[in-house]
Amino acid sequence: MNLDKFISTTIDSLKNKIGDEKAIIALSGGVDSSVCSVLVKEAIEDNLTAIFVDHGLLREGEVDEVCGIFQNRLNFKYIDATDEFLDALKGIKDPEEKRKIIGKIFIEVFEREAEKIKAKFLVQGTIAPDWIESGGKIKTHHNLALPNGMVLDVVEPIRDLYKDEVRDVGLKLNLPEKLIHRQPFPGPGLAVRVLGEIDEDKIAICRKINHIVSEEVESSGFNKQLWQYFAVLTDSHVTGVKGDQRDYGYLVVVRMVSSLDAMTATVPEVPWSLISKISKRITSEVKEITHVTLSVSDKPPSTIEFE
Ligand code: XMP
Repeated sequence: MNLDKFISTTIDSLKNKIGDEKAIIALSGGVDSSVCSVLVKEAIEDNLTAIFVDHGLLREGEVDEVCGIFQNRLNFKYIDATDEFLDALKGIKDPEEKRKIIGKIFIEVFEREAEKIKAKFLVQGTIAPDWIESGGKIKTHHNLALPNGMVLDVVEPIRDLYKDEVRDVGLKLNLPEKLIHRQPFPGPGLAVRVLGEIDEDKIAICRKINHIVSEEVESSGFNKQLWQYFAVLTDSHVTGVKGDQRDYGYLVVVRMVSSLDAMTATVPEVPWSLISKISKRITSEVKEITHVTLSVSDKPPSTIEFE
C-alpha cells in the first residue's frame, strides 16, 4: 500500500464524513490510538478531542510521556480516574472480574467526557488483524450505543492497515520513534500483572519491577528479538535471606516472549547475564521481593499475560 496516498485519501474522506461535527477518541498512547488521533486531527483539527484516561495502572513515566507528546499537539484531555478504578477493584481476586470492572469503569469515565463534548463520532484504532481474527464480523459502518443511551457513529480510519503499516504512517505523521516502537501493553494495565487482589502498594511494586525489566532488556538490545518483556508480581510469598535476616517477600516472574502477532508466542533463549542482572536488581532495589523466576512457557498453552 502506498502510505502517502493512504494518508491523503483518508484525510479527505474523514473531512467528508465528519464535516463540522465533533469526534472523540480514547487515546491510550499505544501505537494504534496514537496514529489514529494524529491522522484524524489532520482532517478535523480541534473538533477531535482525545481523551487519555489514567486508571492508575500505567507503567513508570507513562502518564508524563503521553501527556508530553500530545498535550500541545491535540485537543487533549487527561483524566485521572485512579481512585475510581482502584476503589472498584478493592477485594477483587478473579482475573476476569478484574478485567470486567476495568472495562466497565473505563466506559463510565469515557461516557462522562463524551457527554460534555457532544460528540457525534467515536474514532477507534481498530486495525486489520482485530477484525479479521474475529471472523470479519465487525461491520465497516456501525454505531455504538453507550450505556447512557448516547449513540456514536464509529469511525475506524486505520482498519485496513497491519501493524507495520500503522507504524510507518505514525512515522510519516512525525510521532516519536519511541512511541511507534513501544511494546504492546494490555488495556487493563498492571492490574493483570499483579496476581489476585490489587492495591496501590502492589501496583507500585509491579511498576518498579516492570521498569527494571524494561531498562535492562532495552539497554542490552535484546528487546529487538522480543514482542513483550515484563514482570509479574505473584500473590505468593517465599522465604529468603537478606543480610543475615530471614525475609518473607513476594515471588516475581519475568516473562520475555517473541511473537509476530500475539496469537502465538515463544520464549527465546534469554542471555544468562541479562536475566541474572534483572534478578539481582529486582531483589536489591525492591525490598518486598525475595525471589525472581523466569517464565519458560510458550503460547499456547500459556497466554502472554498471566491474567
Ligand atoms: P494474551 O495474554 O491473551 O495476550 O496472550 C495477547 C496480547 O494482547 C495483550 N492483551 C491485551 N491488550 N487489552 C489489550 O488492549 C487487553 O485486555 C489485553 N489483554 C492482553 C497482551 O499484552 C498481548 O500483547
